Amino acid sequence: MAAIIEWSDDYNIGLPRLDADHLGLVRRINDLQQAVGSGQPPARLLGKADALVAGFRRHMAAEERYLVLLNSPAGRDHRDSHRAAHALVLRRLQSLHDRLEQGGDAGPELDAVALDLTVTELIRTDFDLVGLLHREGLLPPGAGGLAAAE
Ligand SMILES: [Fe+2]
Ligand SMILES: [Fe+2]
Repeated sequence: MAAIIEWSDDYNIGLPRLDADHLGLVRRINDLQQAVGSGQPPARLLGKADALVAGFRRHMAAEERYLVLLNSPAGRDHRDSHRAAHALVLRRLQSLHDRLEQGGDAGPELDAVALDLTVTELIRTDFDLVGLLHREGLLPPGAGGLAAAE
């Protein structure tokens, strides 16, 4: 069975709504990992996978409210690559869902999604987003997020 992701406060990017989403997504994937490992019935696994996909879609929409604010050339490049990274996570979540639906071993897909959600989504891409928001003066120093975007 794939490893459970251990949440670290180092994953917090400083925008409360998005940080809460990230923690929720990590919990959902861990819950799914455990459900797969303990041999729960396919209908239950699919329900959990559906909830994970829905949670990630809501998270994408929440982050999009920040991405649209970026206006520098670097910010616009970031917006494109960040959207592409989200689309990749969504494709992987879909293939995880398909694998569970077929009743196959979903271990490799679970591992890939777990890596996407932590290394790419939480650590790299979202920290880049916050750096650019600060650089463009879109977040007050030490702010807990934009009122307009939260
Ligand atoms: Fe995120
Ligand atoms: Fe993101």
